[in-house]
Amino acid sequence: MTPPAAGFGTRIVSTGSFVPEKVVTNFDLAEIMDTSDEWIQKRTGIRQRHISDQSKGEGTVSLAINAAVDAFEKSGLAPEDIDLIICATCTQEMTCPSVACRISERLGTKKAAAFDLAAACSGFLYGLNFAETLIRCGRYRTALIVGADAMSTVMDYTDRSVSILFGDASGSVVVTRDDDPARGCQYQLMGADGVGWEALYMPRREVDIPEHDRDNPIKLGMLRMNGREVFKFAVKKFQEVIEETMEQSGHSIDDLSLMICHQSNLRIIESAREKLGIEEGKVYVNIDRVGNSSAGSIGLCLDELNRAGRINEGDLVLFVAFGGGMTWASSLWRV
Ligand code: UT7
Repeated sequence: MTPPAAGFGTRIVSTGSFVPEKVVTNFDLAEIMDTSDEWIQKRTGIRQRHISDQSKGEGTVSLAINAAVDAFEKSGLAPEDIDLIICATCTQEMTCPSVACRISERLGTKKAAAFDLAAACSGFLYGLNFAETLIRCGRYRTALIVGADAMSTVMDYTDRSVSILFGDASGSVVVTRDDDPARGCQYQLMGADGVGWEALYMPRREVDIPEHDRDNPIKLGMLRMNGREVFKFAVKKFQEVIEETMEQSGHSIDDLSLMICHQSNLRIIESAREKLGIEEGKVYVNIDRVGNSSAGSIGLCLDELNRAGRINEGDLVLFVAFGGGMTWASSLWRV
């Protein structure tokens, strides 16, 4: 729980995103595993996903840089105006240097702090909330937050229960100080419960695999997921997080202009929307075109909405995510 907004205001200067060119449809997957377009659409809402072409060197760094450059160029700012770069990801090619430092290299920022943040699908919102708080308290003026995950690089495409869900994408946002303290994040919430980590994890060593999952045929380095467990957790958590955020902020669901949530599975999003009685048109969905892109998903949605002219000054926008860890986050903005 956080106290009401104080200090400086904040505002979104620009947004950016990137999806790799290569498209993999459900029909393509049905050619390499025992699945069908009908099953995937019915259980997840996904028709297709984009994946990186690793033969061309594409991956998390290129996803992150492309989204960062997109938002940075639209911001009209100079490299020296950026004080902080946060990249949320769980699929780094290298953990040292951070992906954020590769963004810094590309943008030519010479003094901005840069680091990666690991909170799985909640990572973009963790980054946004941290950056917003640092700007609001006056410590920094301008931050670039990027969410990027090349999930295809951690997919075992012999496993139909996990690999049908994910795709690669990135999203970014430049946030800066605003003189109006009423502008920006109205309320934010971040949490984690480590007890649930075994439902979603990427082991690098045999020793890291929990006893009960030793027979799981998924290769080391690839994502393992207990879909049913994650599903149950997500349905409950989404609703709780939204209710707590609206209640603590003093706003009602009807005040919302838009809800931008992590694109995990259409059934999870729909369940929260229906239970809370949120109008269909207020909840953005792009999972049908891009799948679940982990930390890339919320920034990508934000940029698509922004480019479509659907983010207008004064709007009340709610961001919500949950992810591996298990982690969760919300961020309620007066944009
Ligand atoms: O971003 C956060 C990360 N993760 C999530 O949000 C994931 C949350 N979970 C989910 O989205 C869903 O659990 C999945 C989409 C992963 C799976 O859907 P489900 O409705 O929970 O299916 P299930 O695992 O309960 O499996 C139902 C049946 C099983 O067959 P039997 O045992 O009933 O005969 C599976 O073997 O569907 C079978 N199955 C499939 N069939 C065709 C599982 N995956 C597939 C598949 N194609 N790809």
